[in-house]
Amino acid sequence: MATQLPDQHPIQTDAVRSAMEAVYNWNYEPEIDELRTLYANALDRQWIGMKQLDWEQPIDRAAFSDTFSIGGIPIHETEFWKALPLETRWKVAKGSACFLLSNFLHGEQGALMVAGQLVAAVPHTDGKFYAATQTLDEARHVEVFAAYVRKLGEVQPIAPALKQLLDNVLATDDWKKKAVGMQVVTEGLALYSFRDMRNATSEPLLKELLTYVSRDEARHTGYGIKYLSAVVPTLSERERAELEDFAFECARLLIDSRGGTTMRSSVLELWKDAGVDPGDAFQALARERSTIATALQRSGGRRGPIRGFVIPTLKALDLMSERSAAHYDEMFRANFGENFGSIQADTYGLPADLEAWVEEGA
Ligand SMILES: [Fe+2]
Ligand SMILES: [Fe+2]
Repeated sequence: MATQLPDQHPIQTDAVRSAMEAVYNWNYEPEIDELRTLYANALDRQWIGMKQLDWEQPIDRAAFSDTFSIGGIPIHETEFWKALPLETRWKVAKGSACFLLSNFLHGEQGALMVAGQLVAAVPHTDGKFYAATQTLDEARHVEVFAAYVRKLGEVQPIAPALKQLLDNVLATDDWKKKAVGMQVVTEGLALYSFRDMRNATSEPLLKELLTYVSRDEARHTGYGIKYLSAVVPTLSERERAELEDFAFECARLLIDSRGGTTMRSSVLELWKDAGVDPGDAFQALARERSTIATALQRSGGRRGPIRGFVIPTLKALDLMSERSAAHYDEMFRANFGENFGSIQADTYGLPADLEAWVEEGA
């Protein structure tokens, strides 16, 4: 008997027109050994989200609220947070997490579609093989994030700036821009944020889920880094500069809150709804700077996902000229104040082994 579709189907869709070339490669021998190895590792490390995580356990509300960190800032260690009524803490933590995890979920759907596009668009067989494994990884991520958000509350709509970013990456016809926009900027930010949240939370199911997902994301980011570091040196100066500009535009959509549409501005709205005035919260947090600094020291310091990860990656890939660095500096100062300093002087490097780095602090 044929499967019955619901009366209304598909239930909710949205679309962006994308045009790209599907590229055949008639050479089936390895050309980029590092990508072939990454593909073999990916095959080795598959997992089944619905079987390997314990979905029967309820969310541990106390653990969830008491170890709630946002954007890597250990708010839960401050007196300000501890003084809030339990009910308010749960409301703020749950609301912010529903929003953030929903956007992770939507981002995973974007990553799923981009990975599928990369199978067709990248010119090397090793790159296609690897992207095929990533496509499966991302399907699993969509599945597990959807299941967790469902347990926590309701899926929230995508933040407009993230939607714009995913649209841009899906729509471009250049696979290198897809790789920079998704694998380097978006997944770099995601990997850093997932790992941060995993290290902070003591909610067992969330911790386990983020550990599994981060391991996959370490490979995804590694793919972008390995592939592009082979390809960027072969580009003309004009192509290289275009790629660099595309990376900046992606980062801008994730960071710049001057348009009022970033995730950060939406989270602050949620705080207001829960009865916490963001202005008061920031003042209180500023007074407790030393508590936060001590907590951060324990977890290895805070540079944030962009400064601590995405920018070092772009520098390593030769996608950060002085011209771009000046744009980043201007944007950071406008969003985070003059004290932010300049990324040009930063000497942060990338972890030598991303997969090992993910295991730290677990
Ligand atoms: Fe993912
Ligand atoms: Fe990914």
